[in-house]
Amino acid sequence: MASKAKTRRSARPGFATRAIHAGQHVDPTTGAVMQPIYQVSTYRQPALGAGWKYDYARTINPTREALERALADLDGGLEARCFASGMSAIAAAMNLLRSGDHVIVSRNVYGGTYRLFEGLLRQFGLAFSWVDTSNLRNVEAALRPETRMLYVETPTNPVLGLTDLAQAGRLARKAKLRLVVDNTFMTSYFQRPLALGADVVVYSTTKFLNGHSDSVGGAVITAREEDARRIQWIQNSVGAILSPMDSFLVLRGLKTLPVRMERHDASGREVAAWLSRHRKVRTVHYPGLPTHPQHALAKRQMSGFGGMISFDVGSLATAKRLLKRVEICALAESLGGVETLISHPASMTHGSVPREERQKIGVTDALVRISVGLEDPADLIADLDRSLSA
Ligand SMILES: Cc1ncc(COP(=O)(O)O)c(C=O)c1O
Repeated sequence: MASKAKTRRSARPGFATRAIHAGQHVDPTTGAVMQPIYQVSTYRQPALGAGWKYDYARTINPTREALERALADLDGGLEARCFASGMSAIAAAMNLLRSGDHVIVSRNVYGGTYRLFEGLLRQFGLAFSWVDTSNLRNVEAALRPETRMLYVETPTNPVLGLTDLAQAGRLARKAKLRLVVDNTFMTSYFQRPLALGADVVVYSTTKFLNGHSDSVGGAVITAREEDARRIQWIQNSVGAILSPMDSFLVLRGLKTLPVRMERHDASGREVAAWLSRHRKVRTVHYPGLPTHPQHALAKRQMSGFGGMISFDVGSLATAKRLLKRVEICALAESLGGVETLISHPASMTHGSVPREERQKIGVTDALVRISVGLEDPADLIADLDRSLSA
């Protein structure tokens, strides 16, 4: 018995335990069990050249530092760095590249990522090839001598296409590319890209990681010392840091990540199954449905399917009617909160993607995306049913 208890004590704690405790220390001054919000810009140093760790709050802040330790732990990374938004986290990861480098990107990514790459980074000498990464032969075919990065979102926003991360990791190693994965939809609770061969994971913490629709933020998790140092340097040089208050909010959100993700997943499965039987719904994109073309891969590389669903209702007019009639589901940008959010990707999240590109990736005018929240699924289904059937 004694040796069993000892074994249990020395084993790495489970995910839910780490979501609550990893990277956090009880405040030595007061015993406060929550990480205090260090709302401060600078620190009094004991003496010139004393090597005081905390020098200036753009560079280091104890609240942000606790969140960064927690996020790195949950993803199995070496380090995490937090940024003012998901987009600034993605921009920081792209700053690992140099002018002249070529990047292969999943054809379907969040519209803001497309805007950043094509609208801004291209003018600084980066080249992008947009390919369907659900088939990695397309990536091989797009390789150039100057290719330095493979950037994937899996599942993709909004059509929930998957990339085989283990295969992508092998390909990236062989071709000496950095594999960067946007893991916003799954979080480290359902999918751990670094364990499957990724080098860098990026997040919009605005979504499921924070989970309460009350903070905008982002994170970059690195696996290698060289990348960790560079991202730290970029965070300090560019200065797009996550505020102490937002760091506190995300830390608070992380503590319930496992229970929230379980519920998003259970309700997501229920709503997706119901939608797939509805006569007004043409197609449902949800990796948990056996009809999803990559359902087997989803079961292999994710431990849940999450709460993101998109579905085609046949016409823009039907989509508009549905979005106007819903009462519990809120018509809004964003996702991953406790409340159910419903949106029209073609005109909202993916409005910055040219129409013909949208058509290629299946973001039609009749596509509706839903981020299934934590309400009673029966109420969500009733809301959708009433709004679809009207
Ligand atoms: C998958 C994905 N990545 C990144 C972002 C950008 O994050 P933020 O809005 O926090 O800048 C979003 C935003 O919707 C997203 O859905």
